[in-house]
Amino acid sequence: HSQQRKNISSKAISPDLIGVFFEDINYAADGGLYAELIQNRSFEYSPTDHGGWNSFTAWEYITQGYGYGALSVETTSPVHPNNPHYAVLKVEEVGQEGIGLKNSGFDGIPVKAGEKYNFSVFIAQQDGSSMPMQVKLLNKKGETIGETTFTTTSKDWKKYTATITVTQSQDSASLVLLAKAKGKIAIDMVSLFPQNTFKNRVNGLRADLAQTIADLKPKFMRFPGGCLVHGDGLGNMYRWKNTIGPVEQRVAQKNIWGYHQTAGLGYFEYFQFCEDMGAKPLPVVPAGVSCQNSGGTWRIGGTGQKGIQLNEMPDYVQEVLDLIEWANGPVTSTWGAKRAAAGHPKPFHLEYVGIGNEDKITPEFKERFKMIHDVVKAKHPEITVIGTVGPAPDGEDFELGWKFANKENVPMVDEHYYMKPEWFLANQKRYDTYDRLKSKVYLGEYASWGNSLFNAIAEAAYMTSLERNGDVVRLSSYAPLLAKAGHTQWNPDMIYFNNTTIYRTANYYVQQLFSTNEGDMYHSNVVTPAINKADTALAYSCVRNSKTGDVILKLVNSSKVEKSFNVNLSQFKGIGTKAVVTILTGDATVENSFETPDKVKPVTSNFKAARNFTYTVQPMSLTVINVKGN
Ligand code: AHR
Repeated sequence: HSQQRKNISSKAISPDLIGVFFEDINYAADGGLYAELIQNRSFEYSPTDHGGWNSFTAWEYITQGYGYGALSVETTSPVHPNNPHYAVLKVEEVGQEGIGLKNSGFDGIPVKAGEKYNFSVFIAQQDGSSMPMQVKLLNKKGETIGETTFTTTSKDWKKYTATITVTQSQDSASLVLLAKAKGKIAIDMVSLFPQNTFKNRVNGLRADLAQTIADLKPKFMRFPGGCLVHGDGLGNMYRWKNTIGPVEQRVAQKNIWGYHQTAGLGYFEYFQFCEDMGAKPLPVVPAGVSCQNSGGTWRIGGTGQKGIQLNEMPDYVQEVLDLIEWANGPVTSTWGAKRAAAGHPKPFHLEYVGIGNEDKITPEFKERFKMIHDVVKAKHPEITVIGTVGPAPDGEDFELGWKFANKENVPMVDEHYYMKPEWFLANQKRYDTYDRLKSKVYLGEYASWGNSLFNAIAEAAYMTSLERNGDVVRLSSYAPLLAKAGHTQWNPDMIYFNNTTIYRTANYYVQQLFSTNEGDMYHSNVVTPAINKADTALAYSCVRNSKTGDVILKLVNSSKVEKSFNVNLSQFKGIGTKAVVTILTGDATVENSFETPDKVKPVTSNFKAARNFTYTVQPMSLTVINVKGN
C-alpha cells in the first residue's frame, strides 16, 4: 500500500521541458547571431525591407585621391537569379588611392587586434582583362588596421578570398574595397567573417552570443519564428528551401519585423547550431497561410490571396516532407544528399515539426493545416507534429485552436502568452486541470512584461508549475531570446547585446537554472512550506534526473520576507548529503543592463543535505538545491 502511495506522488515528466526559441526579431540574425560583419553584402536591400533603404544602404562610394568613375546597381547578369542585384564600378581615373566602396557594417565593424578575418567577394571583370584590388579595414580616424590585395582574373563571376589580420582593436571599423586601375568590374557578396566563430564553423555564428545561448543548455531550439514564419504575405513566408545551399544562391527577403533577412543564417546553420549545443531542432513551417491570414494591407508581392492556392498545396506539403528527408534521410535520398553535400552526411535526428504560428483559426487555415498535418503524421509517425492555437489565454483563436486540435488529434499544440508578473503568480494551477488524454502542450512563447528580478521570480514560480505538469507540458521556451541595442522591436527579451557586449537578464538566469537542473521524474511529496501550506508567495518543485541520480529542489519566494520550507528526502535511494545550492535574489526592481550586467546573478555554494531539513529562503528569491546522486 505504501509503495502504491509513493508511485502516485511521483510521475514521469518531459526530459525536454526547457528549450529556446530563436526568432529573427530585434536584429537577432543579420547583425546579431550570424557573424557576417558586412551589412547589405549582396546589394539586395530595398525600400520594401525598410522605408528609404536601397541597394547602397550601408555603402559609400569612395573617390579619394582625385580618382573618378561611376558606381551603379545592375541586375542583367547576376551571380545567381536568386541574388539579382550587384554593384558595377567603372574606374575612369584611378587617382592616388583607387576608387571603390566602403561598408560601415551593422553599426560599425567590430574587430580585435591579432585576430584573423576571412574576406571574400564575387567579381566579374566587365572591361579590361584584370583589376588590381585592395581591401582595407579602417579605424575611426581612417587609418589602416588590416589589409590585403588581389588581382581579378576572370570575366565571369569568380569568388576571391583572403585573410586579413587586424592590428588594432576597434568597436566600429569600416571596410574599403578599392579598384586600383582603369576598367569596369561587377561586384557582389562582399563578406567579412571573424575566423573565430562558434565552434569555428564556416558561415558561422558570433562566438560570444552563440555561447551565451549554449550556456542555457537548451534541450531544443525552435526556429525561425514566430511571425517570421508566416511572413506578412506570401512574398516573405519563410520557405526553408530558399535558405540552404551556397549563400550567394539563397533568397534574401523582407523581414516581417521591418528589416532585411539575408538567409545567410539558414536551415543548415540552424540545425548545425542545435547539434553544436546538444539541442533538438524544432523547425516551424508556415501552415500555408500568411500573417493572421492577412489578405490585406500587410501583404507584399501578393494578390490579396490569404494563403497558398489549394491547387499548389500538394507541392507545399511535399516541401514539408522534403524537410524531413533533408534532416533525417539517408545520403542516398534526394534531400539527404543535399544535406551531405553541405557537409553533414549524418542525419540531424529531427523529432519535432511545428506547423503554423499564432494563425487565425479560419477555414483557410484549417484546410491547409489539415493537408500538411495528415500527410506528415501518416508518412512520419516518428515525428511529433506541433499545431498552433493562437495567442492565449483569452483569444478567440486560442479556444478555436484547441477545439480544432482536439478534433484532428494534433499530438501537441503551441500556446503563447505575454502577461504581467502577477498573472504568472496567480495562474500556477493553469495546467493542473488540463486533460491528459488530449493534445500535449508546447508553451512556445511566454514572458512576463519586464526584466526586473520580480519578473524573473514570477516566471520561476510559474516554471515550478510547468515541472509539476511536465507530463502534459512537454516543451517550453521564453520569448523573445535576443535583442540588439538600438534595433529592438519587442521588449522584454532574454539576452541583450550590441556589437561587442552582451548582458544576461534575470529572466535568463531563471531559464538557465531550470534548464541545467532538469529532471525526468516529478515528486510531489518532498517539499512543503514550513508554516503555511497555502502561502501564495511560495512555489516549489522536486524533480529527479534519472541519468545523474540528482534530486533537485526549486524553492521560490516572491514575497519581501524570508520564508521556510520543510524538505523530506527519505524516499530517495542513491543520494548522499552532498548538495549544491544556487540562489538568485535581490531587490524586486533590480535589473541588469549594459552598464551593470551583473547586478542580478546566481550565487552557488556547497550544502549538506540531511534526510529531513528545514530550509529558509531569502525574500524575492529562487533557490535551487541539487542533491547529488551517488
Ligand atoms: O515573440 C514575438 C512575437 O510574439 C512572435 O513573433 C509571435 O509569435 C508572437 O506574437
